[in-house]
Amino acid sequence: MPDAVELIRAKRDGGRLSDGDITWLIGAYTRGDIADEQMSALLMAIYFRGLDPGELQAWTDAMIRSGERLDLTGLSAPTTDKHSTGGVGDKVSLVLAPLVASCGAVVPQLSGRGLGHTGGTLDKLESIPGWRARLSNDEIVTVLRTAGCVICAAGDGLAPADRKLYALRDVTGTVESIPLIASSIMSKKIAEGTSSLVLDVKVGSGAFMPDLSSARALAQTMVSLGTGHGVQTSALLTRMDTPLGRAVGNAVEVEEAVAALRGEGPADLVAVTLALAAEMLRLAGITADPAAALGDGRALSSYRAMITAQGGDPDAPLPAAPHTEVVTAEQAGWVTALDARAVGVAAWRLGAGRARKEDPVSASAGVICLVKPGEPVEEGQPVLELRAEDPARFGRARAALAGAIGIGPQPPELADPVLERIAAGSPGLELAS
Ligand code: URA
Repeated sequence: MPDAVELIRAKRDGGRLSDGDITWLIGAYTRGDIADEQMSALLMAIYFRGLDPGELQAWTDAMIRSGERLDLTGLSAPTTDKHSTGGVGDKVSLVLAPLVASCGAVVPQLSGRGLGHTGGTLDKLESIPGWRARLSNDEIVTVLRTAGCVICAAGDGLAPADRKLYALRDVTGTVESIPLIASSIMSKKIAEGTSSLVLDVKVGSGAFMPDLSSARALAQTMVSLGTGHGVQTSALLTRMDTPLGRAVGNAVEVEEAVAALRGEGPADLVAVTLALAAEMLRLAGITADPAAALGDGRALSSYRAMITAQGGDPDAPLPAAPHTEVVTAEQAGWVTALDARAVGVAAWRLGAGRARKEDPVSASAGVICLVKPGEPVEEGQPVLELRAEDPARFGRARAALAGAIGIGPQPPELADPVLERIAAGSPGLELAS
């Protein structure tokens, strides 16, 4: 049997772990046979030394095999899914899953909750009265057969090694490592049983990866892992320097997503959603026009079917915050910047997000961006509307917004929100600068 201390020393000193070592490490840690302090040391060694492609493949494979792998092969249409590395105002999944389903694919989207300044898809959908995030595997298949798409929590049986490792990384300063992020995300996505996957890798102040080169490296690593495990995978790098759309929070994002499903969505949200939909349909081998499905009500029907199949009432009023305040423009001009991270932190401090994974979130708290970059403002005009259940939260939310809004004399050049596409074996195709 390998010795944990020897393996930690080997990685610390720049050595290589064999497939057998990795299989043993992940299995033993999941069973509780390796102590947290030993795994912490190994994770820190990996943080500094990295994993080579072979080690990463073995590490991811062992994480997938730590639990069950859903079998969706009995469904009548090709399966395809999307994963976002997380952003501010990122309600894309709520529009995209039903949109792609309405074009003929099956979308099994196992999602997460928000942590820190980025929101979580499940927290948003839980603001819909009656809607359930936790489904059994049989229920997942039933919802997929009924609505063509499902958005739900990953069950405890899926990649349990990741659950333990992620919790440990969170408290040991080892989250920001490309091999550890890539294996964590891809083990869950591969175990969920989808045949194809599009990754939305966010770049900018509100994203995990603030710069283009690290976002590109993460995307290429995840695309290779997916492809190596038989899942057709590609990635889009998309901007996250300003919130996507105008709403940041939970219920407010559901409202904006439903507007987009009615064909009335903000331009940046619609552009990112349609680009991801086109990529998912291409990987699934389906020829369809997602813009038409968004415009003619088919995507909205699929959304309503999905919400209903998961116990929710798509017509029920959503929770509304009892308290609001506005942030006003300090001068007249053109909005040149609205910092995504600052708005995300403000929404979080208003109650929309959580600091620890067991904390509750407020369904109605959040921020509405009344103006966005590229729009004119007058001095004193409201720029942001803050919403909260508890007015004591406004002070710290305002503090997070100090310096977040840029106003200049000229309208800024607005860049395309979709920056680059990365496919298996390609170095990255630049779509916009
Ligand atoms: N999301 C995940 O699921 N895992 C990570 O490591 C980072 C983001």
